Amino acid sequence: MEQYAIKGGNSLVGEVEIGGAKNAALGVLAAAIMTDDMTVIENIPDVRDINVLLQAMESIGVIVYRTDRHAVRINASMISGLVIEDDYIKKIRASYYLLGALLGKYKHAEVALPGGCNIGSRKIDLHIKGFKALGAQVKIEHGLIIVDAQQLKGAHIYLDTVSVGATINIMLAAVLAEGKTVIENAAKEPHVVDVANFLSSMGANIKGAGTDVVRITGVKKLHASEYSIIPDQIEAGTFMFAAAITKGDVTVKNVIPKHLESTTAKLMEMGCQIEESDDAVRVVASKRLESTHVKTLPYPGFPTDMQPQIAVALALSKGISIVTESIFDNRFKYVDELAKMGSNIKVEGGNTAIIEGVESFTSAKLTAPDLRAGAALVLACLAAEGFSTVEDIKYIERGYEDFEIKLQRLGAIIQKVESEKELTKFKLRGVS
Ligand code: UD1
Repeated sequence: MEQYAIKGGNSLVGEVEIGGAKNAALGVLAAAIMTDDMTVIENIPDVRDINVLLQAMESIGVIVYRTDRHAVRINASMISGLVIEDDYIKKIRASYYLLGALLGKYKHAEVALPGGCNIGSRKIDLHIKGFKALGAQVKIEHGLIIVDAQQLKGAHIYLDTVSVGATINIMLAAVLAEGKTVIENAAKEPHVVDVANFLSSMGANIKGAGTDVVRITGVKKLHASEYSIIPDQIEAGTFMFAAAITKGDVTVKNVIPKHLESTTAKLMEMGCQIEESDDAVRVVASKRLESTHVKTLPYPGFPTDMQPQIAVALALSKGISIVTESIFDNRFKYVDELAKMGSNIKVEGGNTAIIEGVESFTSAKLTAPDLRAGAALVLACLAAEGFSTVEDIKYIERGYEDFEIKLQRLGAIIQKVESEKELTKFKLRGVS
């Protein structure tokens, strides 16, 4: 089984190019099937979740031409089925975007119930509430969500919880509905705006994306478009924390600094120096980090997808920090793994972690519990002297392209190994 072998202790130094945002690309690719014209989507990351979504699209007759590693041309004029239940799609959360996209275009869809990382109960009641408000009937049978409508009609929809997925999904279904839809208490994440921008470039009429009220006026048809996905704020933030955790000096390039403000603010509170330019952010950490408190919140708050990375940094900082997770209810599973390295973290009530910083971590054999926590554990290993391993890296590969290669370029000693023999070789090389 593939795992990362890591020899920690090096400070990461240099520049890293950030790829396209996985979560934006998932919404944009689903949106692309809503027109019969050709769409060209650039800057998509080559990660497992994206490839699974493309495969699911192909399974219903969408033609996907990969023009290069990061670009596709999509022709959805010959969709031959509206049932998506291939085994892979059950593993990704964003399969639900195909429901909104197909419902909008064909008024019917049947998609396997979504999977995704096990980071707490991940309901879809708000997606369903939105589809119903637009006039669809929704039922769950044989592990499929079935949505069906004679006609979709614009509606006023209030989201009880701020949900990225529900906001995007309702937007997808509403752009081809008759009349006006208003989504209140909408998510404001950059990927919501990116999907809205792409839909608008295809002729949709959407106002207010990026605020908490999104207004959509339905159009009859969407048309061809060429579009480039925004940079991935979570990949960027992960490398910014890699600099902080290893007392390094890393410039993340090809980013939108505005999307990184909450991450930047926390790193400054922790004593890092930050330099921003138009499309890059440099993080320099020259001394031991300071403690701070952080609460995850919807954008522009501190992202839940950065919670494990900041917790690892705080676990090495001076003093006591409190991390409050307010989005998901099971997002501290990595704490037991981190304890193997000598960290001192107590989780209280399921959503609060009290972290007493330690001077250093010891090396250990770890297992990635989910995507972002997996990446955070790799960062922890980079800070620990000696050899560590991280198993179950399939989670990390869902959302990070060439993670170990990008880290190697910054001076990390990390390698993907497949067998005990390769691991031993890695260790021998590392000692010499
Ligand atoms: C998306 C991201 C994920 C990120 C999360 C929060 C994708 C593919 N995934 O996930 O990486 O961690 O946003 O930024 O873009 N909720 C309900 N009912 C619903 C939907 C959500 O109660 O119908 C709740 C969830 O349980 C959670 C909160 O709303 O507590 C936010 O979830 P949501 O924003 O929907 O997350 P995802 O779209 O699944």
